[in-house]
Amino acid sequence: MSNHKDFEAEVLIQSPGRINLIGEHLDYNGGQVLPAAINLKVKLHFRKNNSSTCNCYSKNFDAHFQFDINKVEVSEQEWHNYFLGVVHFICQAYPGKIQGFDCVVESDLPIGSGVSSSAALECGVAKGLDTLFSIGLTDDEIITMARDAEHHYVGTKCGIMDQFAVVRGKKGKLIRLDCNDLSFQYVPADLGPYSIVLLNTNVSHNLATSEYNLRRQECENGLKSVQNKYPEQTILAQVPVDIIQELKSSLPPKTYNRLLYVVQENNRTITASDALQAGDLITFGQKLFESHDGLSNLYEVSCKELDFLVEVAKEFDGVIGARMMGGGFGGCTINLVHKDSEEAFIAACSEAYFKEFNIQLSPFTVAIGDGVKQAI
Ligand code: GLA
Repeated sequence: MSNHKDFEAEVLIQSPGRINLIGEHLDYNGGQVLPAAINLKVKLHFRKNNSSTCNCYSKNFDAHFQFDINKVEVSEQEWHNYFLGVVHFICQAYPGKIQGFDCVVESDLPIGSGVSSSAALECGVAKGLDTLFSIGLTDDEIITMARDAEHHYVGTKCGIMDQFAVVRGKKGKLIRLDCNDLSFQYVPADLGPYSIVLLNTNVSHNLATSEYNLRRQECENGLKSVQNKYPEQTILAQVPVDIIQELKSSLPPKTYNRLLYVVQENNRTITASDALQAGDLITFGQKLFESHDGLSNLYEVSCKELDFLVEVAKEFDGVIGARMMGGGFGGCTINLVHKDSEEAFIAACSEAYFKEFNIQLSPFTVAIGDGVKQAI
């Protein structure tokens, strides 16, 4: 491992980031989501080293760390935990299968920008170790182990959407996923003359993890209040809107807003997905704008930079839909932009954003790609 430049890999894994068209903060509430894997990815090179030492090197950070396979515990360095967490859960389920290995990782996914570089890394580590040591993990095991690593080692109590999309993504397809029972359907990403443009705000507010976990808690508490009167309601996303409205006066105002957002977003995602499948792109885009309103005003996971970019998009001819994407508090907006207007839109947003915040915007156009896979 002393010279990672000449590193000869036995196994190379490519693990993509993900986008989500609509259905935000619904995965941990048993709702509908519409994600896809993208063409930007993390590449992980692995080889066995016939010892009990594991070496991990990140090209992006130019940093290396080491641990013993028999002593896996949470680290204070966040990026270490993506490896440690996955190794921990594989060893727990399949003791003795993993031995010492070397891994070099490089990524063209922007970190902290809402395209789930973390799930890409976790699923990539799981897939790589599975392949290197012939463990025989199923896709479902990779998805849940990566999610458990995020919960218990990284500390975000995320849902299942990111890992699901990273593992099950398919070129040219969106995944219409029901997070209640994990049933899903591939939907052609037929966007006609529109491209998917991501605008990375290049801000990542440090509230992201604590507020994320707080939203999850608020939703769990809110559901309990609903169940006091309607015990048969066990899935928050499926509670009828009129029940939430009826309970308004008995709920703290913020809890009411969170619950209202969840049930409205779930309905919106169903309407939007149906519209997309029927070829009605205008309705589909409109639902993205509405989703942003809810995320910003009711769920309160947006920030001024994201709101600003969505406002610019709304005013721009050729943009049929835009909203913040992912956990929030920074990261990207996702925009559906007519191909003829793409360049002008990116230029206008970059200029306006810089003028307002003195921050350079990072725009990128994404294509929908395959899920995690072995390249060699
Ligand atoms: C993050 C989480 C996901 C999901 C989204 C919001 O990406 O990892 O599980 O909750 O936020 O939709």
